Amino acid sequence: MKTVPFGAAETRVANIIAGMMRIAGKTDEQIRTLYGTAREAGIDFFDHADLYGFNHPGGGPHLCERRFSEALGLSSSEREQITLQTKTTIVDEEWHYDSSYEHIVSSVEDSLRALSTDYIDVLLLHRPDALVEPQEVARAFNDLESSGKVRSFGVSNHTPRQIDLLKTAVRQPLVANQIQLSVTHSTIVAQGLASNMADEADSLTRDGGGIVDYCRINNITIQAWSPFQKSFQDGVFFDSEEYPELNAALKRLSAKYGVTPIAIATAWITRHPAGMQVVLGTTSPQRVVEAAAGADIPLTRPEWYGLIQAAGHRVP
Ligand SMILES: NC(=O)c1ccc[n+]([C@@H]2O[C@H](COP(=O)([O-])OP(=O)(O)OC[C@H]3O[C@@H](n4cnc5c(N)ncnc54)[C@H](OP(=O)(O)O)[C@@H]3O)[C@@H](O)[C@H]2O)c1
Repeated sequence: MKTVPFGAAETRVANIIAGMMRIAGKTDEQIRTLYGTAREAGIDFFDHADLYGFNHPGGGPHLCERRFSEALGLSSSEREQITLQTKTTIVDEEWHYDSSYEHIVSSVEDSLRALSTDYIDVLLLHRPDALVEPQEVARAFNDLESSGKVRSFGVSNHTPRQIDLLKTAVRQPLVANQIQLSVTHSTIVAQGLASNMADEADSLTRDGGGIVDYCRINNITIQAWSPFQKSFQDGVFFDSEEYPELNAALKRLSAKYGVTPIAIATAWITRHPAGMQVVLGTTSPQRVVEAAAGADIPLTRPEWYGLIQAAGHRVP
């Protein structure tokens, strides 16, 4: 498995992450097979959130974290071999965001219990909170770090300015920013290409401006969520009638590289020199293997640019 730098530290991590958002309804056996297949494919980084499972019938916060630990019953040595990342700040009752000291700390304590572990490797602030108090976040991070409950910190869906605001008080490096990115939903990349073009929808900045460049400059690892969704949770672009050119291009490149289209869609993200991690959401062991095959495919510049254009983005 290809590795990429994680934050500014010397640490390197696998560039494919197994996302656990969709495991709530899976049996123990299915979760064990998914985990075992991911490990065999070289994936040792698992993404959770306190929220995942909240919308499963009879579910609630921390359900996916709990199902993961119940099904796997990891030994302490196996636990040490993997990276467990989770997130906090989204509250599902009367939907809102909460980055207060009390919420961050209690959410992490619930995650530790649900995951049956003594420490979280990486804690992300899931979405920006309009009522954020950087000092409160800093106090929570300091206490979680000094008590050994959390080893490193990051954000998700944050703009450059929101990160700068946190950094006025937070002293730990923010190692990752998890953002939505697929070849079709590629505004964070396409906006740079369409810069200052009056008639291009892509030239509108939806991320506060230049989040990819900001993360590269500041050694923040980008983690791409929903790497195969057409847009926001509306199904995958594979074999979609909305994307005939993209699917034709994916098939052509699959044949060239001897892989399946899911590997080429993965490679479109891993090829980016920012050294991004791809957060897979599939619960199919076969798709995990097929996607992992895209971790290190050296797409050429014409191939990479051809894919973003086939997905509907104009390269002026
Ligand atoms: N930070 C955030 O705000 C945020 C938001 C959303 C998600 N996430 C993280 O990102 C991870 C990935 O998100 P995601 O699940 O939306 O990503 P995804 O990998 O783009 O989508 C996964 C879904 O697509 C289906 N799928 C994948 N390949 C397919 C194919 N070739 N044909 C048909 N269906 C296919 C999967 O079904 P099967 O299971 O049947 O393969 C699954 O339902 C999540 O697990 C979570 O960890 C983070």
